[in-house]
Amino acid sequence: MTVFRGTFLDTPRSPFTGGQLRAESDLALVVRDGVIVAREPYTSSVHDGSEEVVDLRDGLVLPGFVDTHVHFPQVRAIGGLGMPLLDWLEKCALPEEARLADAAYAASVAADFVSGLVRAGTTTALVFGSHFASAVDALFTEATRVGLRVTSGLVLSDRILREDLFTTPERAYAEGLELAKRWHGQGRTRYAVTPRFSLSCSDALMDSAGSLLADGPELWFTSHLNENVEEIEGVRQLFGCDYASSYERSGLLGPRSVLAHNVHPSLQELMMLARHGAAVAHCPTSNAALGSGLFPLGSHLALGVRVALGSDVGAGTGFSLFKEGLQAYFAQQLLGREGHRLSSRHLLHLATAAGADVLGLSDVIGDFSVGKEFDALWLRPAADSTLDVALRHADDHDDALAKAFALATPADVAGTWVAGAPVSG
Ligand code: GUN
Ligand code: ZN
Repeated sequence: MTVFRGTFLDTPRSPFTGGQLRAESDLALVVRDGVIVAREPYTSSVHDGSEEVVDLRDGLVLPGFVDTHVHFPQVRAIGGLGMPLLDWLEKCALPEEARLADAAYAASVAADFVSGLVRAGTTTALVFGSHFASAVDALFTEATRVGLRVTSGLVLSDRILREDLFTTPERAYAEGLELAKRWHGQGRTRYAVTPRFSLSCSDALMDSAGSLLADGPELWFTSHLNENVEEIEGVRQLFGCDYASSYERSGLLGPRSVLAHNVHPSLQELMMLARHGAAVAHCPTSNAALGSGLFPLGSHLALGVRVALGSDVGAGTGFSLFKEGLQAYFAQQLLGREGHRLSSRHLLHLATAAGADVLGLSDVIGDFSVGKEFDALWLRPAADSTLDVALRHADDHDDALAKAFALATPADVAGTWVAGAPVSG
């Protein structure tokens, strides 16, 4: 048994439906076999002194972050500014993605990628994989070695992009099935059927993705949706329907579907997502960097579409969900009366419990309740850094959390745990 001692902040009840921030100082979380078996004031805790005590009193402890949209092959492409989506793909992202055909190169990128997640305090991620099966193997291998919870899959395209990234419907199905057999449900890894976006997938390729999703054992589905106005117009021309329907008609929408962006949805599309129980990964730094637009959070919430955060590395500007939370807040502020007012507890919820819910892991992770596995990040800034000063002078825990979202970077994450065990890249 291990006793974690510190100030723990979480959102077991959603602030979007009236829940408050739960925050307790000098708390003991008793963890056995990775699971929280007791939470009680440290001083009255019944531990008998034989357990290891991990003293995290300096700083704050938050549930491990859940990144619901991040691209493994793009870690080295972060920072390509000044372009809209389709130019950025051609000039920044895809040349780098093509390099992952080389398995040794892909393995080194996988190490950079997984270590980037861990350093940011991310313990669970839905990861856009690579166009190459060997590179997807490299990602799962590295995530397993480190111990992260990763859902990912082979990325599929057969038009519009550069040809060295293309597959065929038959190959996509066969390679996807092989990868799913090898990785889905193995330890903490799961498989996600991953057409890149309907713009780059023929009807036949979309149907092959739908077949794999239907045939596989509760596989996941992820792709992009309604990110950029030119992209959306292209999809309408190719499919003759709205963007969400381009997935629905191949059977790709359901409660295990996560669509990134959805910056420009129609009312019908939001209703369709809600009807299927499909969720949206909101990627605010990416939306700002590519000039994609301001995310209509309020209409998603009003129609009952689940939303969580994604870093969208490498169009997004880094792995930190502190930064994504802050940018999500900025975007709603910039929407003025159309924006949804967010406070620090909403940002924490979006970065943790909402992500767990979207990824079907609410029973396992997302907060520090008894019965959940202990996934955590320890925020402990350097002494006398601006964040340290701000935390020491915070009015209360909500205020301290706001200061964390305003100022924290991966350099302030002093430790990351998955199921009670420390992880490092
Ligand atoms: N749409 C299709 N591919 C991508 C990608 O790599 N990044 C983003 N932001 N949008 C996409
Ligand atoms: Zn993306």
